[in-house]
Amino acid sequence: MNRKALQKLSYGVYIVTTANGEKLYGCVANSAMQITSSPAQIAVSINHDNATHDQIVESGKFALSVLATDTEPSLIGGFGYRSSRDADKFAEVSYTMQEGMPVPGGAMAWMTCQVVQTMDAGTHTIFLGEVKDCELVRAEAIPMTYSYYHAVIKGSSPKNAPTYVPPEES
Ligand SMILES: Cc1cc2nc3c(=O)[nH]c(=O)nc-3n(C[C@H](O)[C@H](O)[C@H](O)COP(=O)(O)O)c2cc1C
Repeated sequence: MNRKALQKLSYGVYIVTTANGEKLYGCVANSAMQITSSPAQIAVSINHDNATHDQIVESGKFALSVLATDTEPSLIGGFGYRSSRDADKFAEVSYTMQEGMPVPGGAMAWMTCQVVQTMDAGTHTIFLGEVKDCELVRAEAIPMTYSYYHAVIKGSSPKNAPTYVPPEES
């Protein structure tokens, strides 16, 4: 089995957020995709250890923000390499609230989803969300792909990402 084949799958780069009362949560995720058109449904795969995971379970909803190629790498670092348990990620960034959930400023598009099904995938939970509202904020921006993130921004992915590659395999 040549696991390098897995690295040929294509993704985007997103921030998945939710809220619990006043507290806001969010993490970077590449594992988002549209599952159906009517109704529009989105799936994301979130690690059990991410603070965002338990909060999505609790709130039953999440927002998906689409990052563009002009995203400050510090936004990805701040949301992808720290836990909301240790830092108030939203203290340092601008954001708007959509259906009670934060959407980071600069996101080129966003969609708010109500969780309609979950699937336990071992280390991760797959959340299937029905899109309740969505907006294209910056039509001229170019969505960041996962390969752009690696090739141009020279970014990597931490252990909790479903696409994590152990050093011995890279
Ligand atoms: C490029 C990139 C992609 C990622 N993709 C995912 C993902 O799809 N699912 C996931 O659970 N974590 C993913 N992560 C890891 C989380 O963003 C990271 O564990 C984060 O610190 C969790 O924050 P939280 O504890 O506040 O939820 C990714 C990180 C990066 C940098």
